[in-house]
Order: sequence, then structure tokens, then C-alpha cells
Amino acid sequence: MKQISIVIFLAFFVFTACNNERPGANKNRKRTTEKTEKKQETSEDKEEEVTSVPPKQLERAKALIASVSDKEIDAVDAKKQFKLYCSICHGIKGDLMVNGAKDLTVSKIGLPESVAQVYFGKGLMTPFRGIMKDAEIVAVANYIESLR
Ligand code: HEC
Repeated sequence: MKQISIVIFLAFFVFTACNNERPGANKNRKRTTEKTEKKQETSEDKEEEVTSVPPKQLERAKALIASVSDKEIDAVDAKKQFKLYCSICHGIKGDLMVNGAKDLTVSKIGLPESVAQVYFGKGLMTPFRGIMKDAEIVAVANYIESLR
């Protein structure tokens, strides 16, 4: 009689142990999928950072800078152009920040990035290609560096 009850007890023990394992295994599987999801998120974040100025736009901006001569740039009244086209949002000194316009006095981006931003626009900033001449865009990009 004693032996039978031990066998029943063991059978019951094995049964519950098996049942407990299954949800545990499921949990583990879930956790690993969560992990891979997280990994994907971080790689997307990185991509966003890298593409803050799309490489193609940066390439175009560099070509544009190379295509205009110093003489053409010097001929532009960049201050006047800035007042005319940019001060509505950025202010005369560059620090107005209307509608989320970035403060140009603390801007750290390089000349090609600035030229790309003006040429192609970004967010609420309108693109100026076709509105300003290439030399004007480069001259104004140079000028805003003097506001820093
Ligand atoms: C309609 C308003 C508006 C006008 C006009 C405008 N901007 Fe902007 N500018 C913005 C906004 C908004 C941003 C921020 C864009 C973003 O990052 O989403 C910005 C960002 C910039 C940046 C990037 C600064 C940084 O540090 O990232 C530069 C450079 C810039 N503007 C230059 C100019 C120049 C030069 C002109 C004139 C040719 C001009 N902007 C005209 C609204 C404007």
C-alpha cells in the first residue's frame, strides 16, 4: 500500500513538473523575441541619426559648392539675401527660432550640411533651390557661419 502511494505521488510530481515547464519555456521564447525587437529598434535609431542629411543631398551640396567660384560668391550680398529669405524664421541675428527654426548662432553643422539644408529644405524649412541661385545659397551658408 505504501509503495503504491509513493508511485502515485511520484507520478503526480512528474506531471506537475512537466506542466510547469511549458509556460516557462513559452516565457523564454517571448523574451527572446522581445530582445530581437529591441535590437531592431536601436539599429533603426542609428540609421535615423546617420541620415539626418541624406548622403545623396550631401553629395549634391558638395558638388554645388565646388561648382561656384569665389568670385561668384563674393558678388553676392549674403547679408541682404539672408534678411530677404531667412530672417522671417531665423531672425536677423539667426536666433529667432520661429516655427521650430533652429538657432543658427549655436549651429554646429558644416558648410555642405548647411548648403544641403537650404537647397533641399527640411521639416518646416522650405527648399530654396530654384528660388536662390547656387552661388547665393553657398554665400548665405557661408554668411550664417559668421553668426555663430
Ligand atoms: C519657413 C521658415 C524658415 C525659413 C524661411 C528658413 N528656415 Fe532654416 N530652418 C527652419 C526650420 C524649421 C529649421 C529646422 C528644420 C528641422 O531640423 O526640422 C531650420 C534649420 C536650418 C538650418 C539647420 C541648422 C542646424 O544646426 O541644423 C540651417 C543651416 C538653416 N535653417 C538655414 C537657413 C537659411 C540660410 C535660410 C534662408 C535661405 C533659411 N534657413 C530659411 C525654418 C526656416
